[in-house]
Amino acid sequence: MIVVSDVVKRYGAFTAVDGVSLDVKPGQIHGFLGPNGAGKTTTIRMIAGLLKPTSGRITVNGHDLATSPEGAKASLGFIPDRPFIYEKLTAGEFLRFHAGLYGLEGAAVEERLNEMLEIFELTRWRDELIESFSHGMKQRLVMSAAFMHRPQAVLVDEPMVGLDPRGARLIKDVFRRMADHGVAILMSTHTLEVAEEMCDLVSIILKGRIIASGTVDDLRRLAGGDDEELTPVFLKLTGGSGLQEIDEVV
Ligand SMILES: Nc1ncnc2c1ncn2[C@@H]1O[C@H](COP(=O)(O)OP(=O)(O)OP(=O)(O)O)[C@@H](O)[C@H]1O
Ligand SMILES: [Mg+2]
Repeated sequence: MIVVSDVVKRYGAFTAVDGVSLDVKPGQIHGFLGPNGAGKTTTIRMIAGLLKPTSGRITVNGHDLATSPEGAKASLGFIPDRPFIYEKLTAGEFLRFHAGLYGLEGAAVEERLNEMLEIFELTRWRDELIESFSHGMKQRLVMSAAFMHRPQAVLVDEPMVGLDPRGARLIKDVFRRMADHGVAILMSTHTLEVAEEMCDLVSIILKGRIIASGTVDDLRRLAGGDDEELTPVFLKLTGGSGLQEIDEVV
């Protein structure tokens, strides 16, 4: 469970996140949508405990990030948009390192590691250096690491970028399965079809504020209800098609 209450993040005079509230319940996949620079990554990094909010409150699985950051982080899995991976490690070493960060020990580590490699179709790469991995393989490895400690809440910033259809299908299935087991998932994405296919609820953020929340069908109705396609729905809600600017170019 992820509860964000009226969270603000200011950088000097600039307000990147301006009073955001979110409530992601166990078993839900909550899509976080919005144009570039709207404040998605900033919000996600605050929930992950990597950035301190200027004001507001965040709890993860009942742990207040301000007073019980360890409890919050221990029950959270975080998959950043640009993960740092030390590429001189093998896949197995990377997962063991990650397990150590979360205090996993003993035989359980190898068991869980093999399980993760199997799920993410990386078993035969276990002892290969990460530097030889493709983008999609690295992406799947980062997810394996984030799920090693069985988090009850998961944050994912742009999980589908650069994945081939098979990889995307795999990730979608894994997330759905996790949600079915009661995990709360907050996922930012620019792919509206991904949001429609995967998300129980979505919130749209614009200039640091949530401007709409609900099911994808709720958003369609909010945008006037005459678009089946999601791109015009999104553009109507966030204001601007950009077509005039394109005319300027030609
Ligand atoms: N350290 C910082 N100092 C000043 N401004 C920042 C800082 N980090 C982020 N910002 C600003 O905060 C705003 C929100 O950025 P953020 O990365 O959260 O957007 P986003 O919604 O994730 O965008 P994208 O879709 O491009 O990933 C942007 O205007 C960005 O320039
Ligand atoms: Mg971002």
